[in-house]
Amino acid sequence: MQGQGAHTGDGEDQIVVRNVGALAGTVDVPGAKNSVLKLMAATILADGVHELSNVPNIVDVTIMGELLAAIGIESDLAESGRLTLVNRGELTPVAPYELVERIRASVNVLGPLLTRCGRVRLSMPGGDDFGARPIDLHVAGLEAMGAQFKFSHGELEATAERLHGAEISFEFPSVGATENLVTAAVLADGRTTIDNAAREPEVVDLCTYLVAMGAEIEGVGTSRLTVYGVPRDALRAASHETVPDRIQAATYLAALAVSGGELLVRDARPEHMANLLGRFSEMGLELTPVRGGLHAAAAGRMRSIDVQTLPYPGIATDYKPLVITMLSVADDVGIVTENLYPGRFRYVEELSRLGADIRTDGHHAVVRGVPRLSGAPVRAHDIRAGAAMVVAGLAAEGETVISGVRHIDRGYDDLVGRLRSVGAAIERVSSDSSS
Ligand code: UD1
Repeated sequence: MQGQGAHTGDGEDQIVVRNVGALAGTVDVPGAKNSVLKLMAATILADGVHELSNVPNIVDVTIMGELLAAIGIESDLAESGRLTLVNRGELTPVAPYELVERIRASVNVLGPLLTRCGRVRLSMPGGDDFGARPIDLHVAGLEAMGAQFKFSHGELEATAERLHGAEISFEFPSVGATENLVTAAVLADGRTTIDNAAREPEVVDLCTYLVAMGAEIEGVGTSRLTVYGVPRDALRAASHETVPDRIQAATYLAALAVSGGELLVRDARPEHMANLLGRFSEMGLELTPVRGGLHAAAAGRMRSIDVQTLPYPGIATDYKPLVITMLSVADDVGIVTENLYPGRFRYVEELSRLGADIRTDGHHAVVRGVPRLSGAPVRAHDIRAGAAMVVAGLAAEGETVISGVRHIDRGYDDLVGRLRSVGAAIERVSSDSSS
């Protein structure tokens, strides 16, 4: 894929942050990474020229573009955030290891390739490094629809002459499995129902796009999805605007909470983050939905709260590093419980380097707020933890130097520029100038 001005993510850049007090101004929320990657994978279903708008300029989009290019779909990202994808109908249903290992969302080509081509070969997916991330629910659902799987040497091979409808009930509302099965069911023979389906705004975004292509889906946004399979020639390429990124919106709110000040978070969708916003209000953020976004103001120290992560509409696990960072400088003690990924506390060690007082025990983190953190070198281990380090740097006296910036580049479209534009003292230092 040719991206204009896309980051390569290959350098050893660092981000340097200092606390300089209140933020003020307007920050735009780009399209959601966790939606656009799935929208891109869905273009496998229909021949023609697809157009996605509000596409963030992030490394994961570039990697997904490369994966689709290997499969046979060319894409081009314009500076305006418009991504054009051309599916000429000549597809190779193989997802090579060197691309799959880099992003978890590459597993989202499984459903579309299988239903479209009748077979697929895929390396086991990679992505963020936070514990085992199995795909048993994806596999069991596709098997119920008639697929046959073989696993060998970290690769899976699936075949199905034509998938057929099935009644599927998830033990757990997996985002990725819901997306894969809905997409596969679009071209299956007959009706597929998915109970206990994930309801995340990004799942809704994908379903909306599939419907624009000609898919027949009922129950979008609920935990019971019904998909009526259509023949291949009933689908056509479509245009779609990517839903704004609720995790990035939360990142700017967290930055405000530790810095003080006032922000207009433009294009934030308060209705997609209602639970989180309720909790942020309890902590002391003043939040007002306005036309086209969310107005937020922060004065004084935030109050501690207890939080647990849950599938949507609960508090997303991806918000957690931000919440823990906010709690680390809040007044009193907060307990955070992780219900999705037990191993996802790695960044706590880094926060401790900045003076945070956090104790983890199994799925829980007990965070005793301190008045201020103090700057130090820290490392970003994954996308959201990286953003949390930036927020922590805003809450720290002195200089915080963040390495592992390539993780942030995977999911954040110009985090540094956006924060600078509202008054943060933050810069990206290239390996050349820092050596
Ligand atoms: C997506 C998001 C990720 C977010 C997560 C939960 C993308 C690219 N990533 O990941 O940022 O943190 O949703 O909101 O959109 N599980 C199984 N078997 C499966 C599938 C999942 O046991 O077959 C488990 C996982 O190990 C995990 C939990 O279910 O404990 C949540 O996984 P899932 O909802 O599938 O998350 P992802 O789609 O991988």
